[in-house]
Amino acid sequence: MSRRLEGKHALITGASSGIGKCIASQLAEMGANVTVVARRKDRLEKLADELKSKHQVAASVVAQDLAEDDAAQKIWDRCQSPLDIVVNNAGFGTLSPFSSQSEDGIAALIAVNISALTELSHHFVTERIRRGEGGYLLQVASIAAFQSNPYFAVYGAAKAYVCRFSEALDFELKGTDISSTCLCPGATRTEFVEHAGVDVSAVPAIGRATFMSAEKTAAIGIKAMLKRKRLVVAGAPNKFAAFGNRFVPSTITTALASKMMGGRKNNSSKPI
Ligand SMILES: NC(=O)c1ccc[n+]([C@@H]2O[C@H](COP(=O)([O-])OP(=O)(O)OC[C@H]3O[C@@H](n4cnc5c(N)ncnc54)[C@H](OP(=O)(O)O)[C@@H]3O)[C@@H](O)[C@H]2O)c1
Repeated sequence: MSRRLEGKHALITGASSGIGKCIASQLAEMGANVTVVARRKDRLEKLADELKSKHQVAASVVAQDLAEDDAAQKIWDRCQSPLDIVVNNAGFGTLSPFSSQSEDGIAALIAVNISALTELSHHFVTERIRRGEGGYLLQVASIAAFQSNPYFAVYGAAKAYVCRFSEALDFELKGTDISSTCLCPGATRTEFVEHAGVDVSAVPAIGRATFMSAEKTAAIGIKAMLKRKRLVVAGAPNKFAAFGNRFVPSTITTALASKMMGGRKNNSSKPI
């Protein structure tokens, strides 16, 4: 791999596992110095040590819960040098009926998937414009952004926000050397599925067959970001699903999304 990012500085959220860890590793392999962010400090420190010795780059760690107030500001204040690349990858979902989720859990999901991403994007874009310098934003959404997602309602809506926000921001940035690329992964083999409470055995075989590796998803996102593409859906089956959704009534895509996530019986309630 060429070291085309030698001397550049990239910040990657959610780098303690999965897609974010792979993005950090691949950017470091391309020569970028990295700052990795997540809550699990031990994992971040291990990754930073590995990247320093394997790729001769600088690697620093910011252990931060993105659900905390002012998380984005705290991360920004701790970055030691100007950033050329920000990857807003941290995210999680909870597969369960909306009515059974706690208010704190919903607030944390919105804070991590939406608020922190928006605030870090704002810090980055305003600083790059002030400096008169270019840069890259990579926003990790999901193919959940392309339809309504029963039992994943807040997560899916949050990813639709990421997608619409990133596309609009990229349009606004025309004429600058700053871009915002939205990566929409489909099912990817990471810890996400387990943390979300998805029973993979209940997912139809056709859905299980589309699972991708985190390495491949990360590589697709980085390639699109460096080409300043506005949107990339990872993998042919996911592209087909995202594109096909445009021609199918939402009653059908919503029912299909529920089935693909293993479906669930709703909470019972008395009629009013
Ligand atoms: N895997 C999939 O099937 C899939 C599909 C579509 C989209 N995505 C999206 O891809 C992105 C990466 O997910 P992944 O699949 O790589 O899952 P993952 O392995 O669970 O990684 C999620 C990352 O986000 C971090 N994170 C979660 N909550 C956080 C918090 N409160 N504060 C700081 N960091 C937090 C985690 O770190 P700590 O736990 O150490 O904090 C971890 O590094 C997410 O935005 C996800 O929504 C995943």
